[in-house]
Parts: sequence; structure tokens; C-alpha cells
Amino acid sequence: MPVYSDPVRQTFHLQSDRTSYVMKVHPSGLVSHLYWGGRLEDGDLSALVCLADKRLPSDPATVDYEGLLDIMRQELPTYGNTDFRPPALQILHDDGSTVSDFRYSTHRTMAGKPALEGLPSTRAGKAGDCDTLEIDLKDAHAGLTVTLRYTMFRASGALARSVLISNTGSRTCTLLRALSLSVDLPPGERDVIHLGGTWARERHVQRSALAGGTHLIDSTRGMSSHQQNPFLALADRHCTETCGEAYGFNLVYSGNFVALAEVDQFATVRVAMGINPFDFSWNLAPGESFQTPEAVMAWSDRGLDGLSGVFHSLYRNHLVHPDWVGRERPILINNWEATYFSFTHDKIMDIARVGADLGMELFVLDDGWFGHRDADNSSLGDWTEDPKKLPRGLKGLADDINALGLRFGLWFEPEMISPDSELYRAHPDWCLHVNGRTRTQVRNQLVLDLSRKEVCDAVIAQVCAILEKVNVSYVKWDMNRPLTEMGSAMLPPGRQRETAHRYVLGVYYMMDAITRRFPKVLFEGCAGGGSRFDPGILYYMPQIWTSDDSDAIERLKIQWGTSMCYPPSVMGAHVSAVPNHQVGRATPLSTRGNVALSGIFGYELDLTRLTEAEKDEIRGQIAFCKDTRHLVMNGTFHRLKSPWEGHETAWMLVAPDACEALVTLVRVQGVPNPGVSVLRLRGLDPVATYRVEGPMAHSASGSLLMQAGLRLPSSWGDNSSWIWKLVKE
Ligand code: DGJ
Repeated sequence: MPVYSDPVRQTFHLQSDRTSYVMKVHPSGLVSHLYWGGRLEDGDLSALVCLADKRLPSDPATVDYEGLLDIMRQELPTYGNTDFRPPALQILHDDGSTVSDFRYSTHRTMAGKPALEGLPSTRAGKAGDCDTLEIDLKDAHAGLTVTLRYTMFRASGALARSVLISNTGSRTCTLLRALSLSVDLPPGERDVIHLGGTWARERHVQRSALAGGTHLIDSTRGMSSHQQNPFLALADRHCTETCGEAYGFNLVYSGNFVALAEVDQFATVRVAMGINPFDFSWNLAPGESFQTPEAVMAWSDRGLDGLSGVFHSLYRNHLVHPDWVGRERPILINNWEATYFSFTHDKIMDIARVGADLGMELFVLDDGWFGHRDADNSSLGDWTEDPKKLPRGLKGLADDINALGLRFGLWFEPEMISPDSELYRAHPDWCLHVNGRTRTQVRNQLVLDLSRKEVCDAVIAQVCAILEKVNVSYVKWDMNRPLTEMGSAMLPPGRQRETAHRYVLGVYYMMDAITRRFPKVLFEGCAGGGSRFDPGILYYMPQIWTSDDSDAIERLKIQWGTSMCYPPSVMGAHVSAVPNHQVGRATPLSTRGNVALSGIFGYELDLTRLTEAEKDEIRGQIAFCKDTRHLVMNGTFHRLKSPWEGHETAWMLVAPDACEALVTLVRVQGVPNPGVSVLRLRGLDPVATYRVEGPMAHSASGSLLMQAGLRLPSSWGDNSSWIWKLVKE
């Protein structure tokens, strides 16, 4: 039973196979945080009270914090009392005040985990996989109830946390700040790590010392964003990939977020995460509730590798839809970088024919098939085929593609509207806008107001009509601009600041409706590359296009950074042409293949321009992918050599039973007259013997490969790479 409540000592103990999380209800009804870390045996945990309280109390049972909230490690900090750190909740009451005071009322435990209404969240899985604790706290004066929900996943120790705020009183209030998570950690010398960047440079690892004051990352772009991912980690100053303690946090949400770490006057660290309170408010009438998104918390004492492992196993097994868990993905050929908007039925068939001949399995028709879209300045919202490009329609094209033995996939950008579209001419108020103000176009497009159900339903109907008519087995759901002029024609003035969150709820409503109706279709999320690479999208779509940057060398940093929180089984990765369209770099085809083979593999170039030698090499890559892709889907990922340190990057994937592994090494700079270079592997069975297939094939024990290492080849030239498959003998 991993959720223990001790009625005598008034403690709650959430326990997994590896971790414990402990809270206490004090006599006043305040709830404090006592412990989060390695697993504790259950029993008398009251000694934790003294470890968390600077006063060194003699009797843990009577400890309280009235008037002293600033020294308390809180579970639900609110505004208006003696805690002057950032609150999780700030509520505007009908008397104009913003003071709240929530005290323990009751609690419940349950096996499994309820789904969150209207929001994506981690899934319970099999009986026994997780247990949930709900604690109700009440603000009697305001007539509000807050339910703190904690789900502990037994195997990984991941903790899912969310907050439900219910207006159980008789007066309307307004939520100004409603975060999903707040936890106060003990002092320590730590670094803060997050994943920042920009378009084509997403999720680079950013690590710096956590000093006094507040370290804050956020998004105000209406999407989780290229610039910062909703992920934050705190690691011991000396924490490496393999050693040291680290805490990680990730928000299951695709819109504006905030994540902060504040070191207070006593060096306690408050970590908080949730919907960005900037320009947010939410009216809560009597009888209504507000559900925050879910936050995921992970802890490891086995370095960053261990921390990532907690997220990876949770997301592989408890986030993506069960139908797609572990399921191998088809090798695709996408026409975007091959043709951009300029294609015809015949050109597509020429590419597809070569793809089929080389062993590819899915053709994806990208942007430009609808309305009269010959550039990015028209037709979003008009999801009907362009007869100029496709004289036999999508159905004719899909049938011809299918006749080659390939499945057919299609691009949509359902959340957008072009000013030059039939939809906009019919419904000029269907975009996000503020009356009297400019409707800013980004990439020549506006954003549909998905806070309006009728707008969502109209788009759902259009997309579903195509998916009904055409034999589509894959959809790429793109989203190519941030949200501006965040206003809705349907909301009254006092509720305009609900628009950004309502937009995200609308996206989830659409994704839910369409993916439910077409459960056999494989959906891939995309947002100008990786601007919405977050667990919210992964709940509906089991994979995401990692970045528009398809250059293999740039991808080393992007895929490495992404793997801090997300497993390779959700990262789209394609081989594209050289010189690369984003950086102009020419890398060998082998390196482009080797890097992409650690993700959901595909091609994105004009196959009709390949030489015979390149075709042969691609045949080899495809055969290798078919032989090893189960490792991408199910394997444990280990980062071995960082692209930020030195000129080599290496990582590996190990089968769950350690019978097979895949090791990838990229050397971005040749070294003159090199000495012996070795790579220490991880995650193998130490007593087994492995056949090492690839350059310098040989056999060696798992212990030798992990302790002494794998001998690396020397190379001539830059951007060379190698891939090894290891098989237990
Ligand atoms: C951005 C995506 O990331 C690309 O892969 C491509 O689909 C374009 N949009 C199409 O407009």
C-alpha cells in the first residue's frame, strides 16, 4: 500500500519502490511538506518534523506555524499571510481582497488514478501501477475548497500532482494565480537546469548555479514554446549523468506556463510550476470548479541519467495512448524539404515510387495540398484539395500511393486561418482578436479562436471529412505561430484573460475528438518544429516532430536536450538533403542516418535525385532501422558523451531485458594522429557476453564494455559517425 496516512501523527506518506514523499497536517490544519527523496520505511516519521523546522521543536505533535509561515515548508502556499515567497494560489474575492487561508478538511486514498476532465494527464495503467491521495483544504470565509491530488507511480517513483479549486460557497471569485505544484526543498548547493532555445535550436540544455533569489522560466506565447520547455530540474552542484541527486519537474500542458525556483532567506528552495499567471484570470461562480494541469515530479540519486529514466518510463508507459505504447512506427518519406509548396500528383508519385523501392513504408504529404496554397500566405482553414496540384484529389493520390505498398499520411494545421481563405471571408470574427486593434499576422496567418466551441466543431468536421474520405493512416498536426491579441469575441470583458487557457482547452477538445474518432491513425504533433514538445500533446499524439532543424550535427544538441525529459520513442527524426536547408552544412549520409536512427526514423528529401550509391546506402539504413527500431520504442536511453563537451557525442539504447543494445557515436571534428579512444557503455548485463556488431566487430562481456569500454575507431574528416548493435550471445 504505497499511500499511508497516520491518523495519530497526522502524516501522509506516499511511497514507491524507490522514493518517499511525506506531508503533515498540523494542529491548526496547515499542511506542510516534510520529505521527498529516497524511499523511507513507513512507521513513525515524526523525526522529519525537526529536520524541516529551523526552530528544532521538542514535540513534533504540537508544532505549528501560525504567524510563521515564512519558515514552513508548504504544500499549498497562498497569498495574504506571513509566507512572502511566491504563492501557488492567489484569489480575488468579491470584497476586493486577495487573502486566502486554506486548512485541512478531509482526505481520500484510492487505487489507480482518475483522469482530469478536459485536460491531458498521465494514465493509471494496470492495477497496482499507482495510487492516489486527495487532500481537501477549505477556506471557510471564502467558501472555497482546494483538492490537492497526488498520484505515486510505484515502479518509477514519478509523482503526478494537480489542484482542483471548487467554489463551494455562494459568491463568485476570480483566480489570479492557480499553479499546479509547489514544493519546498531543503537547502543545498544546486544547479538549475532547463531546456531553452529558439526555432531550429530547441531544448538546448541550460545549466547554471541556483543562487539566492528567483530563477524563473516561462512562456507567454500561447504555446509551450521553442524558447523554454515546461521542464525544470534542480541537481546537486556536482551531479553528473551517472552520480548525484536531482529533482525534475514537467508540466502536462501546452500553453503559457511558469516554472520557478526561489532560494529564500533560510536557503530553502521553493519550486513552483503551472499556468503562467501573467495575463491570466478565471472567474469561478458558485458551484464551479477549476482544474489545474498536472505537473510531474521526478527524483533520482543516480544522476541526470536516472532522472531522465523516471520521465522516460512514465511517458512511454503511462502517457502515450495505450494503443501506441511500444508499437513500432513506419519509416516515412515526407515531401516538405523535397518540394515545399511546389508539387503535383506526378511529382509526388515519382518520390513515392523511389521510397517504396527503397523499403520505406509511409508517404506523408506535407503543407500545400489544399485551397490554393502555393505559398504560406493563403488557404489555412479551407481543408479541401487543390485540383491544380491534385487533379484526382487526395483520394486519387492516396489510392496510387497505397498501390505502391505505402501508407498515406497528411499534414494539417487545424488551429489556423489565413486572411486569404473562404473561412475567413465567411467568419472574420473566428480568429483571436481585440476589436479596434491590428490583427497581427505571423507567417501571414491568424489564429482561430479555439476558446469557441463552434469554431472547434467546424474545424473538427472539416478534418474528419477528409479522414473519412481518404485512406489516411498518419496525420501531422502542425501549428506555426504564437498567439497574439489574446482576445475572444465571445467572452465578456471581465473574462478576456481566460482566453489563452480556453484556447488550450479548445486544442485538447479538438485533439481528443479527432484522435478518438480515428484511433488507428498515427498522429504526430508539430509546431514549427518543436514549439509544442510537451507531455500535453503526447497524451493525444504519441510522437512529435522534434525540430525543423534536420541537420545531423545540430540534432545532436536538440535530441540530447530533449532526452532530458522525453524518450527517443516520441522524437521524430529525419534524414534530409545536403547542404542542409537550415544551416547549409554538408554531412555524410551515414551520419544523417545514424543520428536519425535514434528517433522515429524517416526521410525528408527529393528521393528522385539520389545517386545509385546513395540508394544502396539508404537501403542499408532502412534494413537496420527495421531490425533495431524496437529498441527506440522500448529501450532505456543513456547519454554517454555530451555535445557540449568536446567533439564527440555518444548515446545508447538498451533493451528492457538487456539482450540487445544500440550505441551511436558522432565525431564532429577529425583529430590528427589520435591516441586510443574508448567509450564506456551503460545498462548492460555485466555477466553476459555481447557480440558487438559494427566497426571493429568483436565479443566482450557487459562488465568489460561498461568498465573498460568499447574501442572507438579513428576517423578521417569531420562529422563522421558509427553505430553498433550489441547482441547477447
Ligand atoms: C513547419 C513544420 O515544422 C515543417 O515540418 C513543415 O510541416 C512546415 N511547417 C509546413 O508549413
